[in-house]
Amino acid sequence: MQVHNFEKVWLGAALLLIVGFIATIAYGTVGVGIQMVDDSGGEIDPQAVQQSNTGTGFDDPGVVRQNDSHYVVYVVAQQFQFAPGTGDNPIRVPADTRVTFRVTSADVVHGFSIVETNINTMVIPGQVSEVTAEFDEPGTYGLVCHEYCGSGHHTMGGSVEVVP
Ligand code: CUA
Repeated sequence: MQVHNFEKVWLGAALLLIVGFIATIAYGTVGVGIQMVDDSGGEIDPQAVQQSNTGTGFDDPGVVRQNDSHYVVYVVAQQFQFAPGTGDNPIRVPADTRVTFRVTSADVVHGFSIVETNINTMVIPGQVSEVTAEFDEPGTYGLVCHEYCGSGHHTMGGSVEVVP
């Protein structure tokens, strides 16, 4: 069978497009591109999030000092609050240290976004979202849930106090 050169060019172009589309999807999936969900923190049984003495860190959520330059914050999100974070229980961390947030949900999908920073992750029941940041500027930062999670979604927020 004879294939015209013109046809070959178009066949080649179509093939390139297909490879390009696959590459785009693969690139996104491995997390080099846009990262929708960060599950690097591992998995957890959402039913057991708040059971005591599980040793997951979520059984007693809060700020845990690892050393002078690294803190880990365990946060449980649930309709419609962050513990810690909401109300008179803000997340309090020192400035100029590495702060790793480990966030999970006890019920539905939530969001965890710290205003004026690039800290922004989805919080999915069964998974632990992990984000590490460093705050240079002391002050109070707003904390918001940015995934619709029910009737009280718009009230779900809190604050992060960065102390000098
Ligand atoms: Cu939690 Cu919206």
